[in-house]
Amino acid sequence: MDEVNHSAVSEFVFLGLSNCWELQIFLFCFSCLFYVSSLIGNLLIVVTVTADLYLHSPMYFLLANLSVIDLIFCSIAAPKMICDLFRKQKVISFGGCIAQIFFSHAVGGTEMVLLIAMAFDRYVAICKPLYYLTIMSPRMCVLILVVAWATGLFHSLAQLAFVVNLPFCGPNVLDSFYCDIPRLIKLACTDTYKLDFMVTANSGFISLGAFFLLILSYIFILATLQKHSSGGSSKALSTLSAHITVVVLYFGPLIFFYMWPSPSTHLDKFLAIFDAVLTPFLNPVIYTFRNKEMKIAMKRVFRQLMGFRKTT
Ligand SMILES: *[C@@H]1O[C@H](CO)[C@@H](O)[C@H](O)[C@H]1NC(C)=O
Repeated sequence: MDEVNHSAVSEFVFLGLSNCWELQIFLFCFSCLFYVSSLIGNLLIVVTVTADLYLHSPMYFLLANLSVIDLIFCSIAAPKMICDLFRKQKVISFGGCIAQIFFSHAVGGTEMVLLIAMAFDRYVAICKPLYYLTIMSPRMCVLILVVAWATGLFHSLAQLAFVVNLPFCGPNVLDSFYCDIPRLIKLACTDTYKLDFMVTANSGFISLGAFFLLILSYIFILATLQKHSSGGSSKALSTLSAHITVVVLYFGPLIFFYMWPSPSTHLDKFLAIFDAVLTPFLNPVIYTFRNKEMKIAMKRVFRQLMGFRKTT
């Protein structure tokens, strides 16, 4: 209904990624492969953590929740992008566009808080091991999740509040394959200078702030680890390096999108694919499949599912 009130534009047209036939085929295979792998990998983690009693600890609960978020996140833009690749006219309705923005920011914001919570979890486990179970109690875990989702929703609604009321009166072509705010506000027929700033402030500085907070906390943990270096620290080091890799991969493209002055290069479209399908795929790979405990648990659950239950 909003589009009737505020604008003459009822749909947007994507230019898509490329018109070159070979590149389209390549992108199609690449995106399908990683999208399907993300779905399978993350589902596998959720099933394993839920089914295996040995993994019922805060770290794995947070991991499984991250996988749920990745499942949602990779299903926001990627399926439509894949279907659109070979279409001449790539159209999205006004409502669909707003929905994409809403969900990607809500889920992205939630993921950011969850990544910070996971850093905190590692901090407690490594620097205050005696208090780990007291601090990371089930209540604390639920609290973390509530805060994460509330923050994501609030962040997303705060962004949308400005966009929904913009007047769109003519141009409706987005040089992209999904809807996001920086490109969308360029189409509004009004002076968007202040809005640009608002978006940079809201999305850009939040990502930048969270990124530095995370990096600082990991440096702090590493320093603590150095001081008390002992036998157990190499396992902790490998867990930490996995976390840090995910943080850099997740925030790198985000900071580029929202802090870069003019979103007109081709580079950012390809970085966007990276964020849309590759990061959700890498999370399970980096966090989980390198983790021995998790691999053993997966085998256990798999065996159970394959019918070793005859005894019961
Ligand atoms: C997410 O975390 C909560 C709180 O620890 C936990 O109860 C729930 O099982 C987790 N979700 C999944 C899918 O594991």
